[in-house]
Amino acid sequence: MRAFPKDFVWGVACASYQCEGAWNEDGKGPNIWDDFCHDPTARHIRDGSSGDVACDSYHRCREDVALMKEHGVKAYRFSISWARVIPDGDGPVNEKGFAYYDGLVNQLLEAGIQPMVTLYHWDLPSALHHKGGWLNRQIVEAFGRYARIVARHFAGRVKTYMTINEPQCVTSLGYGSGEHAPGLKLSQRELARIYHILCLAHSEAQRQIKAVDPQALVGIVPCGRLCYPRQDTPENREAAYRATFDLSRDWVFTHNIVLDSLIRKGYDPSIPAVLRQFADTIDPADWTQMETPDFIGINVYNGVMVDQTGSAVENYPGFPLTGCKWPVTPEVMRYAPQNIYRRYGLPIYITENGLSCNDRVHLDGQVHDPDRIDFLHRYLLELKKGMDEGAPVKGYLQWSFLDNFEWSLGYTERFGVVYVDYPTGRRIPKDSARWYAQVMNTNGECL
Ligand code: BGC
Repeated sequence: MRAFPKDFVWGVACASYQCEGAWNEDGKGPNIWDDFCHDPTARHIRDGSSGDVACDSYHRCREDVALMKEHGVKAYRFSISWARVIPDGDGPVNEKGFAYYDGLVNQLLEAGIQPMVTLYHWDLPSALHHKGGWLNRQIVEAFGRYARIVARHFAGRVKTYMTINEPQCVTSLGYGSGEHAPGLKLSQRELARIYHILCLAHSEAQRQIKAVDPQALVGIVPCGRLCYPRQDTPENREAAYRATFDLSRDWVFTHNIVLDSLIRKGYDPSIPAVLRQFADTIDPADWTQMETPDFIGINVYNGVMVDQTGSAVENYPGFPLTGCKWPVTPEVMRYAPQNIYRRYGLPIYITENGLSCNDRVHLDGQVHDPDRIDFLHRYLLELKKGMDEGAPVKGYLQWSFLDNFEWSLGYTERFGVVYVDYPTGRRIPKDSARWYAQVMNTNGECL
């Protein structure tokens, strides 16, 4: 196939709690995921595990960066553990925590790999949680301060930031269903308030980053329902667009519950009563505080097929599924970037895409994962179609380089192109790592 644009960014992504380990080393403060996994009163994680050691990337950073380089990775999206660099979230800075990220960033730069930093990938310092976490508006200032400290520290080395990963999961899983830390089950009204605070926090962080590093690009990574048309007709495309952003369906898990606030400075008229009531309590000055990001990161795993009326088409029995039983729907990769672009007009990065497979080491000592290769191949072909049809996608980051701690599913799901043998920490590149290396090295021409 024709190559991707010359400056297209190919890479991989991960998050601090999922891969670092070293949960209590070198002055790191505890965070809500440490507490959630260690909770003696309940087993929140399917296999009873935690991120205490995870992939031990904290100690194996050099080896991991070397592996990335060997595979032709051009960009690495990783997150900073807030409690590692500011143990209680809003107090003194922990220089040893920064030393770890200095090592990582410098090694990446030496390897010719662009560091892309996420500031918040769910591991809130426990001390801030005890002050109310994302329900307490004071967190806006603390997050802004943290962002400023990080951006000042890395100015000239890190050029791309993402403030918050998936505010929708932070809210709906952490404070709604309670499946994720901090494990709360709050009302929809309170969820609306959390969304609003997250948007204010993004905005404050963006201002603070720009104040100390005006060249930095600042994005956000929302998630939520992504619909794609059953048939490629103008009517069906329109229905898919509308269904993606219709807040009267499930407003909690939509991209626009966040992006409309930041970019359109208000809610869509389709908001349900609970959100309308909350909206009425918002100080109008808040809307002027909202910052439009420089780009939008979208995490694309699967989508909802809709018909001409926008109704979801049920998947047929035996529909293709991944290891953790998520539907395989490559078409979403063609339409989602176009729909997000149509509504917001901003450049897009695919900040995550991938799947879990039941990978294991085969008799020959290798890890063969044809399902992953087929999945990524299909999604990338569709991505290119969407780009050819006008979506300005600047880069693609596969989730994930290493197998890692998959939140409430523990180590039961493997998303990596590199296998991690957890008892020894040994890394074994899977077949998909070699395949993806070829994709990156040929700028997609081999697809
Ligand atoms: C999250 C990742 C997670 C992945 C797979 C995304 O929602 O950002 O942290 O591992 O999905 O579940």
